[in-house]
Amino acid sequence: MKDTLLFEKIAAGILTSSKFSESKKFIQHGKISVYEHSLDVARLSFSMGEFFKIADTESLVKAALLHDFFLYDWHVPDKMWSLHGWTHPVVAAENGRKYFNISDKEASLIRTHMWPYTLLHPPKYREGWIICMADKVCSAAETLCRWRKPTVHGSGVSSVQK
Ligand SMILES: [Fe+2]
Ligand SMILES: [Fe+2]
Repeated sequence: MKDTLLFEKIAAGILTSSKFSESKKFIQHGKISVYEHSLDVARLSFSMGEFFKIADTESLVKAALLHDFFLYDWHVPDKMWSLHGWTHPVVAAENGRKYFNISDKEASLIRTHMWPYTLLHPPKYREGWIICMADKVCSAAETLCRWRKPTVHGSGVSSVQK
């Protein structure tokens, strides 16, 4: 990531909100919280966006941060075999609209991040393909590297810096 300040500037509004901090309570993979996973995906998406010269960096970072903003524990038994894989992008997009007033494009980026799992909803934008790929890379790393220690994040912008 080259332009750390730009990333922090875009991410600050979401990272400093108490609502987004609620995602620290939920585990995504291994010992990694949804909050940390989302931050990792946003960082990687931002770096990929720099590489591919994506112009709409703001939508890229916001949607990457909110791509799993579903706010429930998907590991509890009654949800284990549920439709979480298909439905959580819709829930995350709705929560993004509700709490962060995201645009239609940003909602689309969130809605399509699970492709090809959600076969009929492929990304419509370049930013969507980046988030889709970054999510898979981070998810694979989190699943394979279960010995990784979870990072404790504060609620402020400084939490962006590791
Ligand atoms: Fe997801
Ligand atoms: Fe994810």
